[in-house]
Amino acid sequence: MKKLIAGNWKMNGSLATNAALVNAMLEGLEGPGAISELALCVPSPYLAQMQSLLAGSHIALGAQDVSAHEQGAFTGEVSAGMLRDFACRYAIVGHSERRQYHGETDVAVASKAQRALAAGITPIVCVGETLEEREAGQTEAVVKRQLAAVIHAVAHCTSEIVVAYEPVWAIGTGKTAFPEQAQQVHAVLRAQIAAATAHPERVRILYGGSMNATNAASLLAQPDIDGGLIGGASLKAADFLAIAASGA
Ligand code: 13P
Repeated sequence: MKKLIAGNWKMNGSLATNAALVNAMLEGLEGPGAISELALCVPSPYLAQMQSLLAGSHIALGAQDVSAHEQGAFTGEVSAGMLRDFACRYAIVGHSERRQYHGETDVAVASKAQRALAAGITPIVCVGETLEEREAGQTEAVVKRQLAAVIHAVAHCTSEIVVAYEPVWAIGTGKTAFPEQAQQVHAVLRAQIAAATAHPERVRILYGGSMNATNAASLLAQPDIDGGLIGGASLKAADFLAIAASGA
């Protein structure tokens, strides 16, 4: 299976800078050559712009969150059906920034994953421990608890999710997990998925947290690292393409 390299732009961008960035990426992708599967998860107001910029390209469109509800009186929320209208293939759910700043619980994240799947959107389910939890020796317990909630909710659809291991202490800090350190957690997640589905090999487990053009190759060489979820480096065309090339 090809690696999946997904950018998470977070709350960055503008109509003008998005167009310049995506055009530079698409230019860089011209010509033959094996390439990883690519996606960009963008702020909701730019979905229409991105749908048209990415039409017919190798880059799939994704959102950064989705509502746990189908529709109705949920001011400010964006439903899975709405994302589907803009041809979103992916939706990040349970990013640590949402868990941390918006109080998203494991159960809420699981409902979001369920909603995405019901609309034909692949949820990219983020799990990861804080520095405090790592130092207390709780890393495995935390990521397993976070993933268990999702597996419990999506049940027989487990093989259709993407998981992203994002140690909170590595996000935006420049401190990447060592490849072996990340691999250890990925192996735990793989075993958990294998216990829940007959097709664990279909589930991609991405690494996220200060992945960049320099460290991507060694991370992506680990047996259970099937791609990357890229924050800062996805805002620079050359860096994002270099990471994509490392995973090809
Ligand atoms: P950085 O790559 O900026 O550390 O962000 C990682 C991340 O949170 C991707 O979802």
